[in-house]
Amino acid sequence: MSFTADRLLLFGATGDLAQRMLLPSLFALDADGLLAPGLKIIGTARSSMSDSEYRNFARAALEKYLPADRRGRMADFLNRLSYQTLDATTLEGYDELAKKVGTPKRGLAIFLSTAPSLFGPTIKGLQSAGLTGANVRMCLEKPLGTDLATSCEINDAVAEAFPEERIFRIDHYLGKETVQNLLALRFANIMFEPLWNAAHIDHVQITVAETVGLEGRVAFYDDAGAIRDMVQNHMLQLLALVAMEPPAHFDATAVRDEKVKVLRALRDVDKGETVTGQYRAGAIGGQAVPGYDEELGKDSDTETFVAIKAHVDNWRWKGVPFYLRTGKRMPKRVTEIVIQFRCVPHSIFAGKGATMQPNRLVIGIQPEENITLSLMAKVPGLDREGIRLRSVPLNIAMPDAFSGAVRRIAYERLLLDLVEGDQTLFVRRDEVEAQWEWVDAIRALWDAEGLTPKTYTAGSWGPSAAIALAERDGVTWHE
Ligand code: BG6
Repeated sequence: MSFTADRLLLFGATGDLAQRMLLPSLFALDADGLLAPGLKIIGTARSSMSDSEYRNFARAALEKYLPADRRGRMADFLNRLSYQTLDATTLEGYDELAKKVGTPKRGLAIFLSTAPSLFGPTIKGLQSAGLTGANVRMCLEKPLGTDLATSCEINDAVAEAFPEERIFRIDHYLGKETVQNLLALRFANIMFEPLWNAAHIDHVQITVAETVGLEGRVAFYDDAGAIRDMVQNHMLQLLALVAMEPPAHFDATAVRDEKVKVLRALRDVDKGETVTGQYRAGAIGGQAVPGYDEELGKDSDTETFVAIKAHVDNWRWKGVPFYLRTGKRMPKRVTEIVIQFRCVPHSIFAGKGATMQPNRLVIGIQPEENITLSLMAKVPGLDREGIRLRSVPLNIAMPDAFSGAVRRIAYERLLLDLVEGDQTLFVRRDEVEAQWEWVDAIRALWDAEGLTPKTYTAGSWGPSAAIALAERDGVTWHE
């Protein structure tokens, strides 16, 4: 089953993702000599365009979205591109598409970056044109459904034509270097694993805060909301990587087997364990921004913020809350994981007046890639009035530790793994379904309780109830 594809077929080739991420990532890989010379990239979408028009389109996207330090000569990359106009909803046209793809020497990788409503018809079209054979693999971009039922429909439709070992489901957070580094931190160091459990960890926080608002994705976002847009996928993947047992190997089966066990151990959330919010006009970085309802042009009950107190019901994590929060129009863009350790069992310094703070590990995923471990240290002095202790940070800034290393777009890694056929950083069907099951139960709870989002001012950390959610347990969100 293992082959390196020499054809890459992009559905949705004129879309936003293709322009912002896929074309720039492919270009960057090519510029670093990581794409085989024979790899041809065929774009397809509804718009009518010739090959050369598509190349111009791609050039414009690269000029707009490539980071300045990754730009370079484009001609060779553009020569890999060709384009076929296609109405994906009807069978006509797929034969022409197959002609354009030609006969791969080794194999074909297909990337579906279209509305999920097109997945079913596209699979049928590909089948009719003989484009689903044993040397074809299929990559799916989110959203994979809006709940468990629709996700199963999509997965069933794809499974008609492709076995699971040829299906690659993207969660672009898994392509981020710092997310993969979480595995290195946990499993390439001896000192964390013995402490990585309920006996030594008090709680975990996972924050994914964004400053952006709707970004013109009006219809999509208002139907999704923060829980389906961010929690169901990215945040649960982060949680699974933090909470999973050590896999025996770094390979697709071992890693995903461990992640899915965590996802299946998530306890159903109780009434008081979630808070939702929707932003109103405010200011971020001194810039006035409109409210969600104003951006949308109507009232809506969609949440742009959600905080959840989650529990993983297994031996390792019994009684350790995982506080998750994500929101649009927060004061700053930050994705981080906080591991809050417990206090030492007995303070030998208590009689000398010293107070202690428990250790804390903060793993910064973006924009700063930092790992900070707070340790207690003695404040220098002769201590005639008692011993003073203070928490001091042990700080590793990844860009300094690995200066000179290229900072890659998450999709570079994922596209290369797709072409080469490595599924480790792609999400398996059972994971997606476990994620939906948990999220569906939360949404059902909101419906049953008639819970609607509380408002928060853009530029704040969400509704005050989210702060209370943690503070009730004596926990303060890390900011
Ligand atoms: C996407 C969501 O999956 O992730 C967006 O649909 C969100 O709403 C984006 O903005 C965040 O990704 P990143 O890589 O910028 O953190």
